Amino acid sequence: MCDQWKEEFEYAVQVARAAGAVIRKAGECEIKVQTKSCAVDLVTQTDDRVEKIIIGSLKEQFGEGTHCFIGEESVSKGKPCVFTDKPTWIIDPVDGTTNFVHGFPFVAVSIAFAVNKKLEFGVVYSCIEDKMYKARKGHGAFCDDEQIQVSDVKDINKSIIISEHGTDRSPEKVSKIFSTMQKILRIPVHGLRGSGTAATNMCLVACGASEAFFEIGIHCWDIAAGVVIVREAGGILLDVDGGEFDLMSRRMVSANNKTIADRIIKEIEIFEVVRDDAEI
Ligand code: IPD
Repeated sequence: MCDQWKEEFEYAVQVARAAGAVIRKAGECEIKVQTKSCAVDLVTQTDDRVEKIIIGSLKEQFGEGTHCFIGEESVSKGKPCVFTDKPTWIIDPVDGTTNFVHGFPFVAVSIAFAVNKKLEFGVVYSCIEDKMYKARKGHGAFCDDEQIQVSDVKDINKSIIISEHGTDRSPEKVSKIFSTMQKILRIPVHGLRGSGTAATNMCLVACGASEAFFEIGIHCWDIAAGVVIVREAGGILLDVDGGEFDLMSRRMVSANNKTIADRIIKEIEIFEVVRDDAEI
């Protein structure tokens, strides 16, 4: 029983590594860019291709009928984002598409697996850095083969906090995002950072390089794998209002401990977003 999902986990690591190699190679050629929800929400042929490779390999290995798939590009093409109790793979083939387009060197493949709506494992392959982050529930979190742990800093004044501004540029949202960032900077914290990939940001919290990462507007595929990695590294997940974390809510604070999380939550200016699993 304790080795349940081990085979799926190990296969996910292999698939993420292979997908990362495809992304690295594609980055050497001309990248054709299209837009999705707005002019700054970018997508490339590589996003589509890599998602097909990942889902195709998983279906071939584990059978088509028993497992469900939530993939960023399939959902953006109209597939409903339905999260059921069935074994479900949650996939972001290229997390950090804008970075990929610009050659900004943080791009990740993110693959998570949930059963009964509980996340069982997560794999984040930061493919330009060639770092494989992975965690399985109850088995610890690792970067390559080294176990990782969140930082033990409790003093917010000694922290580095990560956040992102996402792709929604409506004046109300931009102003709330930057007002929150100003308030956090003025606490003061040592610094504010953002790698441009939510999955990698969470791994930076997991390995102790940053005390917390929060964002409103992320999607389940950006963070599902990171959630397991942060938890297994000793960190916590909360909603931006301090309540229970909800994978489909598009709101998240991941932190090394509750003291840091609560201090940040005091400053977050919340704005409305449409849930990933909202019926459209
Ligand atoms: C984006 C990145 C970014 C975050 C956005 C995400 P994508 O994912 O994770 O860091 O700020 O909210 O949508 O579109 O590159 O897969």
